[in-house]
Amino acid sequence: MKLVKLLANLGYGSRKQVAWMFREGRITDAGGEVLYADDRVAHADIRVDGEPLDPPQGLTLLLHKPTGYTCSTKDTGRLVYDLLPPRFRLRAPALSTVGRLDRDTSGLLLFTDDGQLLHRIISPKAALPKVYEATLAQPLRGDETALFASGTLMLESETTPLLPATLEVVAPTHARLTIVEGRYHQVRRMFAAVGNHVVALHRSRIGGLSLGDLPEGQWRPLDAADLTTLFG
Ligand code: URA
Repeated sequence: MKLVKLLANLGYGSRKQVAWMFREGRITDAGGEVLYADDRVAHADIRVDGEPLDPPQGLTLLLHKPTGYTCSTKDTGRLVYDLLPPRFRLRAPALSTVGRLDRDTSGLLLFTDDGQLLHRIISPKAALPKVYEATLAQPLRGDETALFASGTLMLESETTPLLPATLEVVAPTHARLTIVEGRYHQVRRMFAAVGNHVVALHRSRIGGLSLGDLPEGQWRPLDAADLTTLFG
């Protein structure tokens, strides 16, 4: 791909703006040699104002989503993209959320511009476990663990039962739920199906990947080792 297109796709500016950056000599190779708009150079060898391309090729990141942010590029109100550098929203291919969390759910949210990786993560075949901490309005009754594990629980207006899920009772109104699907509002609807109500929901883990000590509202890029942990 020609450099002018590559940099525009990465959100460094429109093609016209990026073309100016070339004319101003701001785009160089790793050795400081000025590059031209039509050049084709390996991603890792390009510098903008002396800095390597940000982010490096392909982008997958982990956000500690606070409540109150919507997983959308164009809803009204606060969006998860507001927590990332503005340039990321201009990237092509687009940086998409890997599945969604409700506005009122906090926790681990992945983004990627790699369509194949996105499908690998959300594919029912991968059956990656997702762990949620749910705070409930009512104390648990006691039969929920067996019912959720049974593989027979049917959610309202659905035609196939849920796959078995693992419920750990942490306290009378605190449950840790592990599911391998991603149906619409699944966790909230599961507790509604047993006469309860989720008052707070937090996703702590996908596959082997957890938030670690990443503060709420912060993000970090994932590297190859993180992806191994995710699928591991
Ligand atoms: N299940 C829900 O109900 N909400 C989420 O945000 C994620 C899973």
